[in-house]
Amino acid sequence: MKIFRDKTIVLGVTGSIAAYKAASLASNLYQAGARVHVTMTIAATKFIAPLTFESLTHTRVVTEVLALGSDSEIEHVNLAKLADLVLIAPATANTIAKLAHGFADDALSAIALDTRAPIVLAPAMETGMWENPATRENIDKLRGRGVIVVEPSSGHLASGAEGLGRLAELEGILAAARAALARRGTLAGKRIVVTAGGTQEPIDPVRVITNRSSGRMGLALAEAALDRGAQVYFITTHSDGVIPLGAFVTRVETTSELQEAVLEQARGADALIMAAAPSDFRALAPATQKIRKEKSDELVLKLTRNPDILEAVAEWRATKPDAAPRVVVGFAAETEHLLENARAKLERKRLDLIVANPVPQTFGSERVKATLIQQSGETLELEPLSKSGLAEIIFDRIEVLLDAR
Ligand code: CTP
Repeated sequence: MKIFRDKTIVLGVTGSIAAYKAASLASNLYQAGARVHVTMTIAATKFIAPLTFESLTHTRVVTEVLALGSDSEIEHVNLAKLADLVLIAPATANTIAKLAHGFADDALSAIALDTRAPIVLAPAMETGMWENPATRENIDKLRGRGVIVVEPSSGHLASGAEGLGRLAELEGILAAARAALARRGTLAGKRIVVTAGGTQEPIDPVRVITNRSSGRMGLALAEAALDRGAQVYFITTHSDGVIPLGAFVTRVETTSELQEAVLEQARGADALIMAAAPSDFRALAPATQKIRKEKSDELVLKLTRNPDILEAVAEWRATKPDAAPRVVVGFAAETEHLLENARAKLERKRLDLIVANPVPQTFGSERVKATLIQQSGETLELEPLSKSGLAEIIFDRIEVLLDAR
């Protein structure tokens, strides 16, 4: 999540038992490269010591409304100006009420009132407080002013009861923070579908045909699009892989499942990027029971062709251009005749852009050598670079293509 790098984030911590979870949040943001200024309410300091946050962020914690900063400016005024984002987690019913009504009787509420930065709130409280009409109205009021609210989840509460009101998971809060920072990014409002990983075609209940695709290129693309403010639909074959925070994730196994997900999610999309490596073949008749070796010394597997997803998308664009994705990008990992084969695929699949990679340098490696070829014939040979570096260049191209539409 590059977006946090060099950003100034005011992390507001209020008096909930979930305040201890804000320590992980502070640490994650700090490690992602943000300057994290923790502002605590007095009640929060009863749950967790300011020193914890000071140790994690290497920055002084602000609690008093009139504290003087290092350059003698009033600290809350300074922070309100400097902040790229004000993130309040956990946010109690009391703090939410204060923000809804414009109170400024502590450093955090003063910053929230004064700042022009986006505000993200992650509430945590007892179910009764969360469901009380007063809190509902306050939340609606804040949402109406553009405050982003990360809904609390259901589960074990401090009172011992089970119910709605638990602080949302860290990932959800970080995803909301990322989206708030990216809201004016160059892909804001765009729907981008990215596929990742090698498909798995069953041979029997325990064995599959797959390939060496790690899914990391697709992940880098999804991360880059999220950091540019896009709505990202990430279709992956990895059931336990890293998930790009803030993306809508669909997990698939086979090429047919991948095709189904692509055709559904790319409807009306601004761009589809097929970084996945779908298997071109599947077992004609997967065994219903585990295949045993005792039966013979040889095993002949009969395979049948899978659909070509990008060819189906090309057909879709030709017949129903309004519903089909506006820009389509494919990949070509080749062992020989790299540019020739990539150009042939670009034509056959009627792509706007193809990313040609030589194998074996591509699969599983950190750095990739790529050549970008556009429908117009324009070709850009790149030096080896990281997958995230390549993702940025691909999106620079996609943005130009989208602008030209
Ligand atoms: N692709 C696809 N459907 C398939 C196979 C591939 O949509 N059944 C996509 C890949 O995601 C990639 C591009 O097509 O973006 C090229 O994939 P590649 O495997 O290199 O090409 P194939 O079309 O499978 O051609 P070949 O196997 O002959 O190299």
